[in-house]
This record gives sequence, structure tokens and C-alpha cells, in this order.
Amino acid sequence: MRDRGIRYGGDYNPEQWPEEVWSEDVTLMVEAGVNLVTVGVFAWGELQGGPRQELQSGWMDRVLSLLHSAGVGVDLATATASPPPWLSAVHPEILPVSATGVRLSPGGRQHYCPSSPAYRDAAIDLVRRMARRYGDHAALELWHIGNEYGCHVPACYCDVSASAFRRWLRERYADIDELNRAWGTTFWSQRYRSFDEILPPRAAPTFPNPTQRLDFARFSNDELLACYHAEKSVLRELTPDVPVTTNLMGLFRPVDGWAWGRQMDLVSVDRYPDPADPDAHVGAALVADLTRSLGKGRPWYLTEQAPGAVNWRRVNAAKSRGQFRSWSLQAVARGADAVLQFQWRASAAGAEKFHSAMVPHAGTDTHLWREVVTLGADLRRLAPVAGQPVPAEVAIALDWESWWALELESHPSAEVRQVDLLMEMYRPIYEAGIVADLTHPGADLSRYRLVVLPALYSVSDEIAANVDAYVRDGGVAVVTYFSGIVDTDDRIRLGGYPAPWQEMLGLSVEEFAPLPSGTSDPLTGPLASRTSHALRWEERVRLHGAEALLTIGGGPLEGGAAVTVHDYSRGTAYYLATSPDPVTTARVVAHAISRAQVASAASVPAGVEAVRRGEHLFLINHADGERRVDIGESARADLLTGSMHSGAVTLGQGDAVVLGPPQAPVR
Ligand code: GAL
Repeated sequence: MRDRGIRYGGDYNPEQWPEEVWSEDVTLMVEAGVNLVTVGVFAWGELQGGPRQELQSGWMDRVLSLLHSAGVGVDLATATASPPPWLSAVHPEILPVSATGVRLSPGGRQHYCPSSPAYRDAAIDLVRRMARRYGDHAALELWHIGNEYGCHVPACYCDVSASAFRRWLRERYADIDELNRAWGTTFWSQRYRSFDEILPPRAAPTFPNPTQRLDFARFSNDELLACYHAEKSVLRELTPDVPVTTNLMGLFRPVDGWAWGRQMDLVSVDRYPDPADPDAHVGAALVADLTRSLGKGRPWYLTEQAPGAVNWRRVNAAKSRGQFRSWSLQAVARGADAVLQFQWRASAAGAEKFHSAMVPHAGTDTHLWREVVTLGADLRRLAPVAGQPVPAEVAIALDWESWWALELESHPSAEVRQVDLLMEMYRPIYEAGIVADLTHPGADLSRYRLVVLPALYSVSDEIAANVDAYVRDGGVAVVTYFSGIVDTDDRIRLGGYPAPWQEMLGLSVEEFAPLPSGTSDPLTGPLASRTSHALRWEERVRLHGAEALLTIGGGPLEGGAAVTVHDYSRGTAYYLATSPDPVTTARVVAHAISRAQVASAASVPAGVEAVRRGEHLFLINHADGERRVDIGESARADLLTGSMHSGAVTLGQGDAVVLGPPQAPVR
């Protein structure tokens, strides 16, 4: 790929506009510093007029040469995300079916069954034609396969999917008795005599078999990945030197980011934090850290964000002053080498006409356009940061298979949600100015000083041993409740919870006691303040070696351990048997951070984000007011403005500095 610093641009849908608008588009792109656009994501209908027909490529040819002549690179979509009406007219069986048996109609987008051979054949035919036509086009930088796989149709329950599921189960279990064992089918008279009797977990009178649901989640992820892979194989064959990506959706439960990340040359993500949420930047940071981690630390692309409001929430808040810029800089700080938006020019028609875009309906004499141009100039100045790594000494474990199992029905509390627990543990790390990676719990953990495992409900024997070995070898682990509870078939690990880690944690759990929402119990002990309290969950803990840092101070479990620490061989294991209130959780995490001797990038006041990327320190003010940050006596140059800073930096609301390495102290 050409080296052009940070990429800037967005989804460009010229097919929605008369050709005379296109030349204005490229002129404006140059003005804004746009150097990469994603073309053709929903253009199948404009590119092909019927099954296996030649490409109607004239318009696309002209678009690509126009972009190329203006120095704008292209992330070319394979255009397979929204089948045109002719495809479902000829092959109605490609239309997906919901769990309740409703066949979804064309007229929206993504209306295909991922297991449908007719859909896959038609998609591959299109990709082959696109790759042959444009594979050596000078503007082509990157292939964009599909679009947000699983976004609207994460799983299909039709008969075609049912046979594909049976094939998948035969592969996994070989023998029906093995499936019966894994699924625990002696319960509720569910024993199958053969694979032919099995259906997807369609709507049932009550809870469907949990392992059937879990296997169906695995199967559905695999089917979507197979669609992606089928397209990627064609591209690899015809354009082996062009990298491929697909836009992931961050903390999106149906799609296993680890499995997908392995299949992408460049990991990319779409990120839409809600401007109405004052804490949105924290979740956005987590998604950035996740995306970087899915690519094993390599630079990643922010493939979509909104310059202003979206159109798909109930009420779509506009971004406040500077938010477009500060959230974009946050992505770069956390490893992004591209900041792309949905979309370039706001649509005049269709379901997204009220979604913001880089060129708004009101044109260029607008606040938003000026912000677009300003950000383009900022990103140009950040070129030295492109390609630089974002080092992390802390990791938070996330395993999609465990997440799928965690949020099945009929559990002790429906309020134990993966993303909530993840955020509760991530926030205090973020606020301490410490960058966390996300990690699969089975990966090599030894390079981290601190590993947090929030509600890692299901663990294989290998994962259980991996975490245990990490702590024995000197690591610091923080494990929350409802971790290590079942094996990968969702069968309870017997003998008290969490069976695989009782020795490591120095305790065992006899009984769960989730709290109804809106209720809490006080917490006491060395880490408690006067207002510390336990939320969502408690349990009856029996200590055998661990020391209580927090104790339940009321209710039926009064006197029981709520948060513990245990020295285990050369390492330390913390256990949270509840969700303490946020301030108390921060104290617990700070205790673990100091035990693990993890340093923060800078000591920052609340609302200011500090991240080190390469040799640069990003300081971004998300607070709604001015903030001062102490940066030490040595002078440091701000890459964004060229000004020198020393002592303290004052950041206005939404403001940021990107400081170079310290130079000689100012006398
Ligand atoms: C994404 C999608 C885009 C656009 C955008 C609007 O989910 O990939 O095509 O619909 O949302 O926010």
C-alpha cells in the first residue's frame, strides 16, 4: 500500500448522484484532505443487471479514474452486502428466515441467508468480475469484503440453514451419542436418534436446549465467516497483492472477532458512540483497543463513524463542538491509521437521508464542513504517528464463545451481561491513563503484567490452565464472579465454583445470590469508603487462603467476602464476588494496578484521556470544560500545532495535543 500517513475519507456512493456532482465531489475531497474512499458498498444493483451478467462498469470506471486523478485512493467494496431484487426474484430461497419462522423480504438490505448456495454463487460471480475488472486499477488500495457481516441477519433459521447446521454438527460430533452427551439431552426427554432429527433452535414453548443454542451461535458465526472467506479466496487468487478487510462492529456478539481478525490483512471497525451519552468516549476507547488487539497490535482502520448525528437511534443527537475531532483523534491515539466516515455526501433519498455526512445537505458553508476540513488538516500533521504501535501492559480477556454461553437464558441473573462487566472493569483502567489490550484468554498472557477476566463464564481445560499458569509464573489476575463456571459444552464444572480456579483464588463459592436491580448492600473492609456498596450480584464465598479486601456489610450474606486477594505461587489473584459501585471498583483495580506495577501514560484529571502511541503522548479533553494536565518540566512539541509545551498544558473542551518526546528542560 502507498504510504500516505493517516487515511481520511469515507463511504463514497456516487451512484446516488448525477455525474455532474462527481467532479465537485473530488474537488471538495482535495480541499478536505481526503485520501481514501470506500466505493461500491451497496452498488450491486447498479453494477449487474441480472444473474451472471457482465458488469455495467462504465460509471465505476469513470468514478475510479476521477478519484485517481485527484490522488484519492480507493477501498473497493465487493458490493455483495445487499442483493438486488432480481436475485431474490430468481432465487426466493436466499431470503433469510427468523427464529419465529418469518421469511424476511427484500426492500431493506442484507436480506440473504448466509448458508444459501444461490447467494454465495451470485456473490462469488460478482466478486470475480470486480476483481478481474479492477484488480490492477491504480486507485485500488484495499478490498472491502461485504459489509458489517451479521448486522441485520446474524443467523438464519430456514430449511437450507437447518441442513447446513446438521452437516456442521456431524463434523463437530461425528457420532450422535457424542452430541447427546454434550447437549445433555437426557434432560427434558431431548435425546436424538440421528442428526436428521435436529433443527435450528427455532422458537420453542420454553428455553431451547442451551448447548443447541450455543452450537447454533458457533455455526452461524462460521457460516458468515465462510461467506467472507469465499469472497476472500477469489480476491487472493486474482489480486494476491491487494490487502483485504471487512468492517467489523466492535463489541458485536454474533461475530467472533478473534476468528475474523485472523482472516483479515487489516482489521477495521465501524464505531458509532452516542453523542447523547456523556461517557460515550470510554466505550469508544474500548472498541478501539479491541480492534487493535484483533489485529495483534497492528494499525487498524476506523472504516465508519458519523461526522454528526446518525439516523437510526430513537433520538439522534448531534455531535457537540469538537466531538467529531476528539473522537477521531482518540482512534488515532489508540492505533488507527485511517479515519473514515459514513458517508461522504449526505443522501437525498432512501432510509439514511437524515444520517450526517462529510458534505451535509446544506453544503460547504456550514459548521460541519469546516470541522471536516479542520480534521483533514490535523490528520495530515499526524503522519509521523502512522504505523506506530500502542504498547499495553494490561489485558482484558474476552472470548466470544464464552459470551454466547454467558447470555443464554435461564441463568441466575439476566443482568450479567458481557459488555457491562467488561466496561465496569475497563473504565477504571482507562481513567488511570493506562492502555489495555483485549486478549483471548487462551492466548499467551505472559507479556502482560495484569490480566482482567470479566465474567469469563465458560472455559476449556486449556484456558483454565493457561490462566492458572499465568498467575503461578508471576502474573496478576483479576477474576470476576460468574467466571470458570462451565466447560465449552456449557456443562457445569462440578465441585463448587469456579472449579478450575479455586486453588489460584484461594476460595470457593457455594451459592449465587444475585441482587434484584435497584437494590444493594453496603461493603466494608480495608478498601471500602463510607458509601461503598455491592450491586447486581453476591455469592456465598468460602475462603481458604484468600484475604478479604471488601466484605458484605448487610443483608443475608453479611460478613461474607465480596472482594479478595490471594498470593498464589509467584503471582496474585484477585476475585470480585460482586460488582462494587464504580468508585469502589476503581479502588480495587488501583490496588491490582499497583500490585502489578503498571505505569500510566500521564496523570490526568477526570475527563482527560492520555494515551501513548509510539513516542507521542495524546492528551484529549472529553470533559465539558477546560482541564489542565501536568506534563513535567521538559519541553515537548505538539504535533498538531507545532507549539512547545512544558509544565502544564491547558486543554479547552474537546481539545487535544499530541506531544512529541521530551526535549531538554526549559531553564
Ligand atoms: C453502518 C453501515 C453503513 C450505514 C451506517 C449508518 O451500519 O455499514 O452502511 O448504514 O451504519 O450509521
